[in-house]
Amino acid sequence: MKIQAINGFKDILPDSALLWQQIEQRARDIFQRFGMREIRVPIMEKTDLFVRSIGEATDVVEKEMYTFTEKSITMRPEATASIMRAFIENGMHVQQPVQRLFTIGPMFRHERPQKGRQRQFHQLDAEIIGAQEPQVDAELIAMGQMLLDELGINTSLEINSLGCPACRPPFRTKLVNYLELHQDALCDDCKRRTTTNPLRVLDCKKSTCKAIAKDAPSILDSLCENCSDHFSLVRQALQDLGISFTINRFMVRGLDYYTQTTFEFLTSDLGAQAAVGAGGRYDGLIEQLGGPALPGIGFAMGIERIVLLMEQKNNGTSLTQNTDCFIAALGQEANKPCSQLTHQLRLRGINAAMDYSGRSLKAQMKQANRVHARFVLIVGENELKQEEAVLRDMKTQKQQVFSLAGSVSEQGERLAPVLRA
Ligand code: HAM
Repeated sequence: MKIQAINGFKDILPDSALLWQQIEQRARDIFQRFGMREIRVPIMEKTDLFVRSIGEATDVVEKEMYTFTEKSITMRPEATASIMRAFIENGMHVQQPVQRLFTIGPMFRHERPQKGRQRQFHQLDAEIIGAQEPQVDAELIAMGQMLLDELGINTSLEINSLGCPACRPPFRTKLVNYLELHQDALCDDCKRRTTTNPLRVLDCKKSTCKAIAKDAPSILDSLCENCSDHFSLVRQALQDLGISFTINRFMVRGLDYYTQTTFEFLTSDLGAQAAVGAGGRYDGLIEQLGGPALPGIGFAMGIERIVLLMEQKNNGTSLTQNTDCFIAALGQEANKPCSQLTHQLRLRGINAAMDYSGRSLKAQMKQANRVHARFVLIVGENELKQEEAVLRDMKTQKQQVFSLAGSVSEQGERLAPVLRA
């Protein structure tokens, strides 16, 4: 029986991996423009880290974590908690009061797999720790927008504020009172959430719950002065940077650590999976995890969703990895000098390939096309005797004679610049 990958875990095959590299490269480039530095955190953490950060009554913690119960460790469902743990454990705030960090890597959630939703998925995650100013919120959102724009992905930006420990509890009470009046019409999950996590009811996708949520009180009407000012300054700062957005007063996030600003980059091109990226402030999180009382804000983007959108836009045409020179060695005699010349070219930074099978010229030309060779150097036994090979430019179909005189190193030295030209 063939062994297959686990449901929701996918291979990223070589053609697609090129697009992944391009996306990651662009993200690194933009993150650097904003002074972000890379951090790499472990794939597994103590379960308690996620329970305390993400929240006990969230879907992620209740249903979606891959936990080894005997050992109380969990495969990370997201990166923010791990980065905060690393930040605290390594006393990073002592070195630098404001830390701008990013990480790229796999996350694990036991969700129902569908288009754009997997159990192993990858995030581009960015966090700014230690800055409270609303301009920082706008700057971080602008960075996300810049990345999506440069990748050519169309999204709409929605923002909201979730208040703080001062204004959220009274709002929560107001919301619970409202939801209790409509218990009969809520779905079973939302009936339960009314007491465990009432804000999540506002985000339920069921039509009956949506209808009730529509008239529910809004957090924006309950913000304290500080949160209300912060939110209006964020909006102003976004306008100052030319970032368009709409306010979605019903946006709640699936993770409990958020305070004040939250935001989502949404697409209508991925069916049910609308969020390409999302994030927000988490001003109490670091202290809650035993660290200093420092604020933070961040976002994560789903690479699979970015890849799907880019592939959709390119009509499925994939990128190709090019070979600068394919050396067609004809006959066993040619194998050794050709393998040496291939190596000499690689030493000089050339993408070189050859085939050791001694197959016909026709078969090797086919192979050269398969690896997208720009040039083919044809070396047979006659060519070796005469110390002259044919170099064919596969784009123009023009041929020139290349002298095989001298050592392989000299040949490499003469051939490399021709291939680079
Ligand atoms: P999140 O909203 O849970 O936030 O995930 C962020 C993004 O990851 C989503 O918008 C989506 O693109 C992608 N994503 C999430 N789950 C899946 C999945 N099962 N399959 C494919 N893609 C997925 C966070 O994770 C927060 N840590 C973001 C953050 C950083 N907030 C502050 N700092």
